[in-house]
Amino acid sequence: MSRKLVAANWKMNLTQPEADALVAELIQGCEQSSVPVVLGVPHPFLSPVHHLIDNKQGFHLAAQNLHQEHKGAYTGEVSAPMLKSLGVEYVIIGHSERRQQFSESDAMLSRKVEIALEYGLKPIFCVGETAEQREQGETEAVVTDQLKAGLFHLQPELLREVVLAYEPIWAIGTGKTATPEDANAVHQTLRQTLAEHFSEQLAEDTTILYGGSVKPANAKDLFAQEHIDGGLVGGASLKAESFLEIITAAEAA
Ligand code: PGA
Repeated sequence: MSRKLVAANWKMNLTQPEADALVAELIQGCEQSSVPVVLGVPHPFLSPVHHLIDNKQGFHLAAQNLHQEHKGAYTGEVSAPMLKSLGVEYVIIGHSERRQQFSESDAMLSRKVEIALEYGLKPIFCVGETAEQREQGETEAVVTDQLKAGLFHLQPELLREVVLAYEPIWAIGTGKTATPEDANAVHQTLRQTLAEHFSEQLAEDTTILYGGSVKPANAKDLFAQEHIDGGLVGGASLKAESFLEIITAAEAA
């Protein structure tokens, strides 16, 4: 079973015509992708992007957030059943921008993971340390604590639906990337933690993406690492040319 996957995180970028043009270029550029390509798009673009990628081999749709309740009086929020009804397959949960700027707690994130899984959505669950935590030598403790708080209450068969993403906060949108070796060491720790709590097999099968300034120039070296199964790509996913090069690097790894 291949663990490879490449995901785009457009964040709060692009307009509808720009999104249409980008998806059209991606479809044209990788009709034959052997690696699943997941597009994490803003909520208003979910339906139009779904129509563009429907029946296109290898393309999948992700939301960037969801609410932790099924429905109700939550003005401006979007629920798991809404996403499911739009053809969404994945949802990004625990991104550091949500943790930091929207005060999403571990408890809230674990509830978001549960409700996503209840509706058959696959969480892309993000963990990562700040620059200060890295300097203090706390990286492994921070990411394993986030992993445990977000996912360890799940039954093993549900954990199989989860994709993990290691995104050092200091590397997101900064142009600074973890060295492939440093990133791989954190991925290995995450996999080992899964093996200890769940099973060797489940740990071996789990996809763990790296995110934080992934670009064509560093993708090949990152994806060559044993425990790095692909990327969660922000800035470089907004241009077809750079994102296609990253997909090609994942295919070749
Ligand atoms: P970046 O963002 O590639 O622009 O650093 C990655 C992310 O935040 O998912």
